[in-house]
Amino acid sequence: MTIAVDFQPVGRNISVEAGVTVLEASRAAGVGLSAVCGGETGCGSCRVRLSSDAAVSPPNSMERDILSVEELAQGLRLACQTRIRGSLRVDIPPESLTAPQRTQVEGEELPFELDPPVTAHTVQLKEATQTDQRSDWERLSDALVTAGKVKPRGYPLGMVRQLPGILRENDWQVQMGLRGEEIVSVSAPDSPLLGLAIDIGTTKIAGYLVDLKSGQTLAMQGIMNPQIGHGEDIMARIAFVMKQPAGDRQLQKAVVDALNQLALDLCRQASMGNGNHADAGGVTPLQIAEVVVVGNTAMHHLFLGLPVRQLGMAPYIAAASAAMDVKANEIGLSVSDGAVVHLLPLIAGFVGGDHVSMLLATDISSDTGNCIYLDIGTNTEVTLTTGGRTLSCSTASGPAFEGAHIKDGMRAAEGAIERVRIVNNRIVVQTINDEKPVGICGSGILDAIAQFKLAGVMNPRGAFEAGHPLVREGERGLEVVLVAGVETKHGRDIVLTRKDVSEIQLAKGAIRAGIELLLLEAGLSADRLEQVIIAGAFGSFIDVNSAIAIGMFPLLPRCCFRQVGNAAGIGAKMALLSLSKRGEAQEIARKNEYLELSNHGEFTNEFTRAMRF
Ligand code: FES
Repeated sequence: MTIAVDFQPVGRNISVEAGVTVLEASRAAGVGLSAVCGGETGCGSCRVRLSSDAAVSPPNSMERDILSVEELAQGLRLACQTRIRGSLRVDIPPESLTAPQRTQVEGEELPFELDPPVTAHTVQLKEATQTDQRSDWERLSDALVTAGKVKPRGYPLGMVRQLPGILRENDWQVQMGLRGEEIVSVSAPDSPLLGLAIDIGTTKIAGYLVDLKSGQTLAMQGIMNPQIGHGEDIMARIAFVMKQPAGDRQLQKAVVDALNQLALDLCRQASMGNGNHADAGGVTPLQIAEVVVVGNTAMHHLFLGLPVRQLGMAPYIAAASAAMDVKANEIGLSVSDGAVVHLLPLIAGFVGGDHVSMLLATDISSDTGNCIYLDIGTNTEVTLTTGGRTLSCSTASGPAFEGAHIKDGMRAAEGAIERVRIVNNRIVVQTINDEKPVGICGSGILDAIAQFKLAGVMNPRGAFEAGHPLVREGERGLEVVLVAGVETKHGRDIVLTRKDVSEIQLAKGAIRAGIELLLLEAGLSADRLEQVIIAGAFGSFIDVNSAIAIGMFPLLPRCCFRQVGNAAGIGAKMALLSLSKRGEAQEIARKNEYLELSNHGEFTNEFTRAMRF
């Protein structure tokens, strides 16, 4: 008997024989499901959520050891232990996917009502004849007035150029995108009314092409932010602008060019039916009627061409922080001539619209109790909700989790070590794509350090124990070999040094200090937290148990933690599709109490405490 298994969110279906494990089925389907120990030692890395208990074997003793009662009740299972007996859907949480399967754009989506700022109206025009010589644009304007709408002002040249072709190919019908009374796009009748949601991160950019009529995501893609060539973090980019004449224009052009290419790629993807939900037919960026952009304050300013120098010095004041609408063509975006770009409001110099967007997507407006929201990146934004208050801060966690400043560090790419376990005093690693190891990425580094702590390889200050069998004397002091040169792709040992541990100490210390200072401000202790919501690409792929083990996160039951993927991108999509969500975003920013940590009297104490493992 063959059984249908549907893997989501990767969208792969496969038929398997009854009795195979979910892990075996995922491999047959080509789904990159993490499985560090291959089912040998209960590493817990292969967690999946199943649609039906009845369609699989009951939890065995390993699963009952590894998974909490709450997790089992929520349908979580270990893929390597669970045997398939009937048709089912397998949802793979972001942290259980191996890196190539992650596009850095997926995230948890909550349902909401569509209420887009641009709506579609199709009009039938009278065909031009020898005796009716009105131009196409005049013909459209007249039809609008007849339909009780306002006559369009001026001549949006881009749309005027598109109109003759659309009318003659579609029997004199045209679909308009109307934003209030204003025409912002023209396209073929029944074509999708396109919107573009963009999350500009310091390192990566996520883009989503959306049909404003149905709310469906037609295509999504993650790309690197090309500004990275001018500095890996915000401060380095601000320094570039301060040193380089016209540096701000150079950075703006780099990001706008990248967004134009991204819009083109997304339209191609949607036109080929490779999008998530639908075959959108042939679509082009000129059909994009509305854009929403979110980003941290520096990315927001660089995108708009606003000055950033003042963001690099205390008191780090934004040039403008309210939600705003600007014409896309003023910024150089190659979308519909009439399209508007909406930018979500900023909270402060280092807490931007991307964090507001993350808070929107994770439904902060509903009563969430004592909850921490984290968006981990080179700067980590932290928000605490408690008793009707919302407090936020930003903390400089640096690029170590991106693999930067780590001796054998690398980004999450093929051959990167992404999971590490110490089993019987032996180091076991899992690499992306199961390739020969070439380096170690952030989630692997975090795992390694947690394992060092648990196996007594290092002390709580992060110093290696000289007598431990896994520790050796390296060129620059004590180090641990993760993979010997005979097993690596380049033939060199992959090691973690004391300096690497220090880099992670600084990063995790900054994040934990941010959490503790917000708790201090609210008069709460960490054990009163009910939930910790973790967003962002890195935060979604880490092993939460490792982050707890090294003290980056407070010691709370595993079920208190929720990894939600790229919530900033999902919030941008919500703002694209709903005017009331835009209002909600403004309310989130307005209610927020911002805490500046750079001059906070307790920062040094908390940071020093948080550096200990
Ligand atoms: S692979 Fe399933 S528990 Fe390790």
